[in-house]
Amino acid sequence: MKICFIGTGYVGLVSGVLFADFGNKVICVDNDKAKIDKLKKGIIPIFEPGLDELVLRNYKSKRLLFTTNISKAIKDSDIVFIAVGTPTAKDGVSADLKNVYSVAKIISKNINKYKIVVTKSTVPVCTGDEVEKIIKKNNPVSKFDVVSNPEFLREGEAIRDFRYPDRIVIGSNNLKKTKSVLEKLYAPIVKKGAKFISTTRRSSELIKYAANAFLATKITFINEIANLCEEVGSDVEDIAIGIGTDARIGSRFLRAGPAYGGSCFPKDTKALTKIGNKFRTNMSVVKSVINSNEQRKSLLADKILKILGNPKNKKVGFLGVTFKANTDDMRDTQCLKIFPKLLKKGVKISYYDPTGEKKELKKINYKNNPTEILTNNDLVVIHTEWDEFRSLDFKMVKSKKLKIFDMRNLYQPKNFSNKNITYYSIGRPFNEKKA
Ligand code: UDX
Repeated sequence: MKICFIGTGYVGLVSGVLFADFGNKVICVDNDKAKIDKLKKGIIPIFEPGLDELVLRNYKSKRLLFTTNISKAIKDSDIVFIAVGTPTAKDGVSADLKNVYSVAKIISKNINKYKIVVTKSTVPVCTGDEVEKIIKKNNPVSKFDVVSNPEFLREGEAIRDFRYPDRIVIGSNNLKKTKSVLEKLYAPIVKKGAKFISTTRRSSELIKYAANAFLATKITFINEIANLCEEVGSDVEDIAIGIGTDARIGSRFLRAGPAYGGSCFPKDTKALTKIGNKFRTNMSVVKSVINSNEQRKSLLADKILKILGNPKNKKVGFLGVTFKANTDDMRDTQCLKIFPKLLKKGVKISYYDPTGEKKELKKINYKNNPTEILTNNDLVVIHTEWDEFRSLDFKMVKSKKLKIFDMRNLYQPKNFSNKNITYYSIGRPFNEKKA
């Protein structure tokens, strides 16, 4: 099948490359020439384990093409995927759809035969209707269908999530014509056990937001339970097992931690409240999730200050600064809200991250390895759950006063009972008096 992806960001690139790997002819388009030139040389603009090798293999086999020529890419394809960004708009809440609509306009001018136009970008309900309107208005005689096909790819796990998803969702108002084509495209994945769910276009658009808002709610819920555990001396890890084994609840996304961050949950939860407003429906649960998640970052900053006692000139080293492991993405990462509060109180911060120094943290000292963080600070905060932080060499710590705040519960409090280190974690009884 001949397909093209417009937008070679996270979603477009990963999906495009993997469809090529299934034997399709895929054209990945972007208006950023520098990015396309780099991709042609095998330089990948994002950090995603395993992606570089896949890009190289499929590019060499000529199943995968990179271009800035959007018109030709559309004309040469049977299925056109829109995979451009939908960041938060200037109002700070809604999804900005200008990229989607400008691509829709370009598509309308290049429809030379029947096309299926698929929105993969996360878009508010009814965006497909608008895309259809734009194409029809600009090219009334064109033959096409607009289908919604949301992605559920996690950064750092995107290749596995693409190959082995729980489900594929497609939403179309003309399932008779579009379903079989998309079923064929996704057949290799469905054969491996994924459910193929077809529904209306609006329902499909809403499924994406509902899924992300629900997962964000689950995380926020367990984070609040963790707060309660700290007060009553319970262990949130046990609570997560105790409730997660109930099949009605499910065990995934119940890891308490430093609030959810990243490029999707914060943006999509906010956009869902805006969609609710538009349709006069109060999304009160999602609104409180957003508030609770925001407050959590302040709460953790306060906890750090409490652990430090008198914070002025105390040294705090962060292990990991990205919003989760296996990504270099700093969008809405939790520490961006924690650092200013600490700096204001005179705390000296340094950090190490496996993906290197961050332009977002110009005023914070970067260290080249975890050892420098462990040996030069009053407090070490494990902020991100990278594997390399799971077996740190604590023997090298000579200070008798080192404190560790493990925001990802990578260690057990009992591991520290004989050491000179005072260990704090999330939602678990402390091995020392409460901070
Ligand atoms: C998310 C969705 O999972 C994916 O389906 C969607 O398409 C894009 O957004 P992503 O943002 O890459 O993926 O990361 P995810 O693994 O979902 O984690 C999001 C945030 O929640 C991270 O900050 C992570 O640390 C946090 N999290 C996740 C928890 O705190 N606890 C958990 O149990 C799971």
